[in-house]
Amino acid sequence: MELKDAIYERQSMRDFSDREISDADLKEIVTDASRAPSWANSQPWQVFIAKGGMLARIKQQHAEWDNAGRGGNSDIDTIHRGEWAPVAQQNMQQWSNQVLQELGNNMAASMKFSKSQHQLFNASAIVYLVLPKDAAGWSLYDLGAFGQTLMLSATDHGIQSIPAYELVKFPNMIRKEFKIGDNQMIAMGIALGYAKTDEAINQIYTKRTPVDSFLTIKD
Ligand SMILES: Cc1cc2nc3c(=O)[nH]c(=O)nc-3n(C[C@H](O)[C@H](O)[C@H](O)COP(=O)(O)O)c2cc1C
Repeated sequence: MELKDAIYERQSMRDFSDREISDADLKEIVTDASRAPSWANSQPWQVFIAKGGMLARIKQQHAEWDNAGRGGNSDIDTIHRGEWAPVAQQNMQQWSNQVLQELGNNMAASMKFSKSQHQLFNASAIVYLVLPKDAAGWSLYDLGAFGQTLMLSATDHGIQSIPAYELVKFPNMIRKEFKIGDNQMIAMGIALGYAKTDEAINQIYTKRTPVDSFLTIKD
């Protein structure tokens, strides 16, 4: 696949089929991701992947904790929408409007969106990106590059993805399942799978602001 096609074909999917991803594909995708640049080649990441029985347990517990009304407590702090920069708030609002509109602007549509979160998107595998809690701030930049390279490689393998806070909002559960130490940050999760492409929830191709609204080139 051409790189440009992978960049434009990647989009977040929120409902995956039951088809499994082979370990060989998972390993190759993570190997590709490890080509991401990092500060002085520090490669600060650790990667944990849940699939099969382990993932089934995580999904079940996630649903139970959600049902019990337990709030998220991600290792990276979240801030209220109103505290984001004005431009980001505006873009988030436009995204919410687009999602609702494309799902049909009704209760059933927004329920479907919430349900997908609750079910961890029925992912075939979840990749957890982990950093030491005392990692340099720069390592978060490195981890972002790692995550995007991973998702582009997945696209190249015909595998769809979604990076999501939802996947890491109960980090202690993940720490316990994988026996990850308290000194490690479960920074981000990426769900992988073969998307049910006919589902409306998987047909949201998000817009971007025009490049001239955020780009400055000076000669
Ligand atoms: C840090 C981060 C956290 C996200 N968390 C969620 C989430 O919890 N639930 C969700 O449905 N999408 C989540 N997303 C996906 C974004 O909504 C999505 O990337 C954005 O709307 C752009 O759409 P696209 O990925 O299809 O291009 C997250 C994305 C990022 C980068």
